[in-house]
Amino acid sequence: MIVQNATVLVTGANRGLGAEFARQALARGAKKVYAAARDPRTVTLAGVVPVQLDVTNADEAAALAAELGDVDLVINNAGIADMTELLKPGADASLRRMLETNVFGILNVSRAFAPVLARNGGGAFLNVLSVASWVSAPILAAYAVSKSAAWGLTNGLRNELAGQGTQVLALHVGFIDTDLTKGLEVPKLTVDTVVDSGFSALEQGLTEVAVDELTKAVKRGLSAEPGIYTAPR
Ligand SMILES: NC(=O)c1ccc[n+]([C@@H]2O[C@H](COP(=O)([O-])OP(=O)(O)OC[C@H]3O[C@@H](n4cnc5c(N)ncnc54)[C@H](OP(=O)(O)O)[C@@H]3O)[C@@H](O)[C@H]2O)c1
Repeated sequence: MIVQNATVLVTGANRGLGAEFARQALARGAKKVYAAARDPRTVTLAGVVPVQLDVTNADEAAALAAELGDVDLVINNAGIADMTELLKPGADASLRRMLETNVFGILNVSRAFAPVLARNGGGAFLNVLSVASWVSAPILAAYAVSKSAAWGLTNGLRNELAGQGTQVLALHVGFIDTDLTKGLEVPKLTVDTVVDSGFSALEQGLTEVAVDELTKAVKRGLSAEPGIYTAPR
């Protein structure tokens, strides 16, 4: 899928990685960029069309899809991360919130927009996943559950959408310098590097991209014996 002349919808486009997806889509010559946000007044990027969408609301996603019949590329970017260990009090509520956003959010938007993409020739979904789809760590344990589930969801959607010619790209990545990682003292990638890798992979027709060295190493470690994901961190 080539971004030039595409009509793009980015979820969670008011800040962080989503705002950068919107910016680079314009820079790559997208025909139109719909920047979706829970509060569209928080979209400040010039040249985009702000639209309202809470991804956890399936009715809102369906109504938006009925309105935006020209979309042929959807970036499923909106996501949240609570730093929660699984056995801590309150972890269930936190995990449910993350599943609603990081998993059902993608499902709601994909179910709403799949017919739009089909009518426009197939198009593509780019789903923002994580290195945490493949490996867990104490503070990211509940988040990792949601991203592993989002990985399974992405693989399932790819199968279901193959018949209509829709490319489904999973983007896996380590720590990025956004609000989501504020306070974490770890090396972080810049948003522009991550988005550039995502769009390059999309334009090469790929189904998966591991952006950074950490994520690539974890991916290689999945087939090790024992698997890298079994080592305590
Ligand atoms: N930062 C990292 O290290 C990292 C690493 C791997 C993957 N990711 C993934 O990258 C994606 C973007 O994260 P980020 O780092 O840019 O985080 P961020 O700066 O915290 O931005 C999150 C975005 O998601 C939006 N959002 C949250 N819940 C939503 C909902 N229910 N409906 C619509 N929008 C919603 C937020 O909107 P509001 O402004 O309304 O809250 C915001 O625009 C997420 O899927 C995240 O899991 C991030």
